Amino acid sequence: MAHAGCQMRAALMEETHDALLQGRGDFPTNVVVGERLLSRLSDFTGSEEAPFVVADGITGPLFAEFLGTRRGLFTLPRGEEGKNLENLSKIYAALAAAGLDRSGTLLALGGGVVGDTAGFAAATWMRGIRLLNCPTTLLAQVDSAIGGKTGVNLPEGKNLVGAFHPAEWVFSDVECVRSQADEDFRQGLGEAVKYGVGEEWGFFGWLEENARAILRRSLPALRTLVAECSRMKLSVVAEDEHERSGARARLNLGHTVGHALETASGYRWRHGDGVAAGMMVAGRLAHRLGEFREEEPARLERLLEAFRIPCRPDMPWDEIAPFLARDKKFTGGAPRLVLPRTGERCRLRDDVTLAALRDAYEEELLKAR
Ligand SMILES: NC(=O)c1ccc[n+]([C@@H]2O[C@H](COP(=O)([O-])OP(=O)(O)OC[C@H]3O[C@@H](n4cnc5c(N)ncnc54)[C@H](O)[C@@H]3O)[C@@H](O)[C@H]2O)c1
Ligand SMILES: [Zn+2]
Repeated sequence: MAHAGCQMRAALMEETHDALLQGRGDFPTNVVVGERLLSRLSDFTGSEEAPFVVADGITGPLFAEFLGTRRGLFTLPRGEEGKNLENLSKIYAALAAAGLDRSGTLLALGGGVVGDTAGFAAATWMRGIRLLNCPTTLLAQVDSAIGGKTGVNLPEGKNLVGAFHPAEWVFSDVECVRSQADEDFRQGLGEAVKYGVGEEWGFFGWLEENARAILRRSLPALRTLVAECSRMKLSVVAEDEHERSGARARLNLGHTVGHALETASGYRWRHGDGVAAGMMVAGRLAHRLGEFREEEPARLERLLEAFRIPCRPDMPWDEIAPFLARDKKFTGGAPRLVLPRTGERCRLRDDVTLAALRDAYEEELLKAR
């Protein structure tokens, strides 16, 4: 198909029910949310040039054939271990072997691990080439594929090497997430609830009304879910592309306690579940500070339970506290916390003491028993 102009894009959307969200401000990513998207990418990009594809051992076999011709395919080992410098240099070798030059395109096909690693390869190959991202997990569709953060882990810690390199296009095909294991799918739901509590209460209400359809993974419900989260993430990121103004910090709601639970438990707590528990603690604390109505923590808990997300911390404060202090969001030992507010956007506060956080955490912990 010839280059897709705006009118053609609008027509396509009427026929197919795809949602097209365009990045604004300085943030150039366009996001398409729909079904059977993988075979239709050039309708949107206007380019027939075959991309070099990076996938993993699951997403390659499941989805790569739908993409049509390609310059090459690199298969990353599955899971967090795939996201390291050794695999990055293997990707570079594959790009060299395929003769990919500065005009080439790299396409990430997978969850956040593939997106982060392939994204960093695109950011650095020949000082930066075009990146397309086809996220295949709910977490990647609602969160990691949008925002331009790419990178890999070092033995010294997670995400220590990276760059901002936004994908030119993100294609979120919601049919892909139907093959995810329940526990993996749920990790994306934890992040979706965060947009409801932190950004738009109207969206929280929509989640409450549609929880069963979402859990069943009904395609219309997934389309709305992913399109709404993408819209909110694009908007926050456009406000604060390089994480300088503080707007982007709102996306860390639930993450301070969440990360501490993840690391302190040796990753028995998964990311989205940890964020859910962290949101419960943040809600409890916000209530104690008079910013969150009495009934809101229970309402949040009902929604998390409807999504079958474990959301009660189960480790003593003393075990998680050492990991809190290592958090990047702690300045000089005092917490910088993102707290929810009834009917409004969450906000970043640096006037809350660690003791107040501990009390709220312990109140949640007691409820778990
Ligand atoms: N860049 C960012 O802004 C950002 C934000 C949040 C998280 N992240 C990163 O994202 C990563 C986590 O992402 P993730 O949860 O998508 O994990 P992941 O990429 O490891 O995927 C989880 C598992 O699901 C499999 N899988 C992928 N798609 C599937 C499908 N459609 N059906 C069945 N199985 C499928 C994968 O092979 C993998 O085994 C972490 O490394 C985290 O640091 C990055
Ligand atoms: Zn997160």
